[in-house]
Formats: sequence, C-alpha cells, structure tokens
Amino acid sequence: MLDFCSHRWTLLVAMILVCLTLFASLLIQWPSLPLKITSIVKTEVISMNINVTTVLVWYWPFGVKSSVDGNVCWERFSIPDCKLVDDRSMFSQADFVVFHNRELMSGQQSLPVTLPRPQGQRWVWFSLESPENNGNVKPYAGHFNYTMSYRRDADFYTPYGSLVPQDFHTGMTAEDFAPKKKTSLACWVVSNFLAHHKRTAVYNRLKTIIPVNVYGAAVNKRLDGKVMLDTISQCYFYLSFENSIFKDYITEKLWYNGFMGGAVPVVLGPPREQYEAVAPKDSFIHVDDFPTLEELGEFLKRLAEDKKRYASYFNWKRKYTVKRFDGDGERFCKICPKVSSLPKHKVYDELYTWEWQ
Ligand SMILES: *[C@@H]1O[C@H](CO)[C@@H](O)[C@H](O)[C@H]1NC(C)=O
Ligand SMILES: *[C@@H]1O[C@H](CO)[C@@H](O)[C@H](O)[C@H]1NC(C)=O
Repeated sequence: MLDFCSHRWTLLVAMILVCLTLFASLLIQWPSLPLKITSIVKTEVISMNINVTTVLVWYWPFGVKSSVDGNVCWERFSIPDCKLVDDRSMFSQADFVVFHNRELMSGQQSLPVTLPRPQGQRWVWFSLESPENNGNVKPYAGHFNYTMSYRRDADFYTPYGSLVPQDFHTGMTAEDFAPKKKTSLACWVVSNFLAHHKRTAVYNRLKTIIPVNVYGAAVNKRLDGKVMLDTISQCYFYLSFENSIFKDYITEKLWYNGFMGGAVPVVLGPPREQYEAVAPKDSFIHVDDFPTLEELGEFLKRLAEDKKRYASYFNWKRKYTVKRFDGDGERFCKICPKVSSLPKHKVYDELYTWEWQ
C-alpha cells in the first residue's frame, strides 16, 4: 500500500517536471512566435497587392493638383487597393491613364501616342463640359477605352452633385426645412448672357410675367459663396437654367444654387425624366411642365402664396443632403472599385458620336 502510494507520487512529480520543461522551452521560443505571425501576414499583404490598381493622372485638370501623397485613396476616401499617381515615369506600370479634355482641346497637352502602350493599359477621357464646349473630339477616335463624365451612361459617372441619403432628420417636417424669410419671387445668377441660349429667350419672356431678380457677372452684380447662397435663400424660386441642353447635363445650377441655396429650383435643361433620375420628382419644377411660360409664371405666383404646398417641395430634405461634385482626387480613386464591373474590352472608335448622341 505504502509502496504503491510512493510510486504514484514519483509519477506525479515526474509529470510535473516534464510539463515544466515543455513550458520553459516554449518560453524560450516565445520571441520568435510573433515573428512567424508577422511573416505570414506580410506574405498575404504582398499577394493582395497584385490587385492594386494604378491610376496615372497624365496632367491635372485646369492645372489644379490634388494630393497623391501616401495611400491617398485609402486615407481620404476609404478606397482600398488603389494607387493614384501623377508621375509620368509610372506610365509603363499604370493600369489606367486619365486625360482631361480641356487641355487636349486647347493644345496645351497631347496624348502620349508615341510611347509604347503597355498591354492592358486603359485610357480614360474625362470631361464635365457639354459636347458644345468640348471642341472637336474627332481626332481622339480609337484612343480611349472609357469615358468619365456627368453622363449617367459614361463608364465613370461623375455628376456635378448628388443627393446622399440621411436618416437623422426623421421627425422634422418639410415646413421645418423650408427657409422662412422670403423677399422675392424668383432669382437668377447668370455669368454669361448669350442671345442664342434657349434660357435667354425663356428669361426674357418670363420676366414680363413675374418679377425676376438677376445677379451675376452678366449684369455686373457678382455674388460669391455664402453671400450668393444667402441671397438665393430669400427667393421662393431659383432659375436653374442650363446654358446648353444636353442629355444628363445638370450642373451646380441645380445642386448648389438651387438645392443648397434653399430656393425651389425651376429647371431648364434636359427632359424631366433625366432630372427625376437624380432627384425626387417633387423637389423641382420643370419649365416643360407647362404648355406656356404664362402658365408657369402664374403657377409660381400661386405656389408662393400657398405655404403648405410650397413647403412640400422641401420634402427631400428629410431624407437627403446635397453633396457637391467630387474633387479630382476622389473621382480618379473611384476608378478602382469599378474595375471588375467594366467591360473587359472597349474602345471609343466614335467618341464624337457618343458625345453628341
Ligand atoms: C484579385 O482579384 C481577382 C479578380 O477580381 C479575385 O478573384 C481575387 O480573389 C483577388 N485576390 C485577392 C488576393 O484579393
Ligand atoms: C484600349 O484601347 C486600345 C486603343 O484602341 C486598344 O488597343 C486596347 O485593346 C483597349 N484595351 C481594352 C482593355 O479594351
């Protein structure tokens, strides 16, 4: 009995000793363990880098440089695996090269057609102007793979503004959002006043039916930034009249002057459906909603008198806030997340035809 017990004790002590030794050897190896983990993580990062897309900006639009320091797409816009560069020596490594039309049009810049174009490299034609102001794009036929424009059917859609869904306004009514202090019926800020613009004819007729306060460079009453928005907010209606009428050509005249200004936009531009594709149908009034400008003018007068109905045009503010256009850095970074959904092979053999359709 005693013998057996002492055996058991010896066994136990031996086992404890073995355990301690194992534990000690683990401790000695300990510093190398994290190293092993790090090296595994590092290998994974390297293999993921295969999917990093490099976007080269051949020159900055209007010469205005955006930052490309660090991992700018990730740090500023939370877009992963995207390398934005503006160093031309990166040409041979770039997956995408972006060209802004304005500088090509003016002859300040040209396409690097003499450089050997790496296989698979794709060129992006970028413009926010309407076809009328893009010059002759015929020479560029067959050079570009993708377009970046305010057009919804561009490969990279980059509108002048957008409504971003918000939910923190729940509980507020449209009346809460409608600016209270209104001193004039309709306002218009206009920088160029050309006789051939459709909007000039519409304004000339409309001002005989309702009072329109006109500001801007065209009438030597420049307003900037906050002063402009404050002025517009005191008008019931803002004439968001585009200078040229083209598919999807809806500019800051709607997003900034109209929606941010706090007046109900009266729009003149592409057909109503194209506005409705980007903004709620009851957030604006379309000139084409009325058979005649007299009827439009009479409607605006009645609407300004009807507080509740007028306020209903601000319903959208309960759900959205306005985002003004993306900056160039953001636009170009946004190429990366779209890569997998782009057509694998595409060439604009008829950029001109695409533009004017
Ligand atoms: C890289 O991209 C391909 C195709 O989009 C995808 O199948 C693959 O999983 C990606 N690899 C990594 C490491 O993200
Ligand atoms: C891009 O355009 C060039 C020039 O037309 C063409 O050779 C190339 O195949 C196109 N690449 C893709 C991916 O569509």
